[in-house]
Amino acid sequence: MDRVVSEEEIVEDNFEQNIRPNSLDEYVGQAEVKENLSIFIKAAKLREEPLDHILLYGPPGLGKTTLAYIIANELGSNIKTASGPSIEKSGDLAAVLSNLEPGDVLFIDEIHRIPRFVEEILYSAMEDFTLEIVVGSDNSSRSIKIDLPPFTLVGATTRAGDLTSPLRDRFGIINKLNYYTVDELKKIAIRTSKVLDCPIDEDAAIELARRSRGTPRICNRLFKRVRDFALVMGNGSIDLKITKHALDRLKVDELGLDETDHHLLKSIIEKFNGGPVGIEAISSSIGEEQTTIEDVYEPYLLQIGLLKRTPRGRMVTEKAYEHLKIPYKEK
Ligand SMILES: Nc1ncnc2c1ncn2[C@@H]1O[C@H](COP(=O)(O)OP(=O)(O)O)[C@@H](O)[C@H]1O
Ligand SMILES: [Mg+2]
Repeated sequence: MDRVVSEEEIVEDNFEQNIRPNSLDEYVGQAEVKENLSIFIKAAKLREEPLDHILLYGPPGLGKTTLAYIIANELGSNIKTASGPSIEKSGDLAAVLSNLEPGDVLFIDEIHRIPRFVEEILYSAMEDFTLEIVVGSDNSSRSIKIDLPPFTLVGATTRAGDLTSPLRDRFGIINKLNYYTVDELKKIAIRTSKVLDCPIDEDAAIELARRSRGTPRICNRLFKRVRDFALVMGNGSIDLKITKHALDRLKVDELGLDETDHHLLKSIIEKFNGGPVGIEAISSSIGEEQTTIEDVYEPYLLQIGLLKRTPRGRMVTEKAYEHLKIPYKEK
């Protein structure tokens, strides 16, 4: 079983890499972030200095990893990658840092998951490009300093709030990625259609965009599924009818909500009378991890106004009752 799962993940990863834009010009949307980055990148190149460290944050699938690779590309630098969960000990981080070469971009994904006592090593590495490590045992330990080459750290996180302030303060550039508009996602769908050489009608691209939860990754994944329907049920090219049919079959509704979203909203309505209810209670009631709800499901439901946060917990809005076609009772 495990093998099947991991194979699927590898296939998805390759797919994502193939359709990933490689330059800022190809990167759709996030206009402000792009404009600023392009200026900072140009200035760093003119000065022949490393670009300031950059923190990218926002919900999964909005293009943080893509942007990190683009930054390295635009700088003409090599990128080395690491991820928070894989850095457990000081030595793990020291190994990553001592492997850097001048001008490298070091991309650390899920940077909020580096343990705090390990994270401290990053402070001097980021500030003055030195690596301070303690060697020896308890009664004969001493700290040694190693110079590092100048590099740019690009950190990505879904939870900027989980970052300690000493770490956050060491990023010169902090960018939040926002959900994409329908028009931007339409452009992404059309771009994907060209890369995959699979034609899509404009109205079908708009429908796909509308139902992608503001998220490029979801847009591309749905594209791939709809393409299968188009191949088997049509002539291979994607039209509106096939798109609607496929998305309905995949149980993605007109707002892009999937079965988990429905389950979440309905259980707050049915079990907690619409809220307010705490995240722990929601989590155990629908059997999803609290962090998954907080990072993946909730932000979009809040964004489109189906859910709201109050001091006493989450509440389902009247708009959500309407969307789910459940009669709303004034409280
Ligand atoms: N601005 C964008 N323009 C075009 N495609 C994008 C954009 N952002 C993300 N994508 C697509 O969405 C997929 C997921 O993006 P990724 O960078 O992995 O998201 P994150 O790291 O934020 O979870 C990528 O494979 C890429 O093809
Ligand atoms: Mg990523």
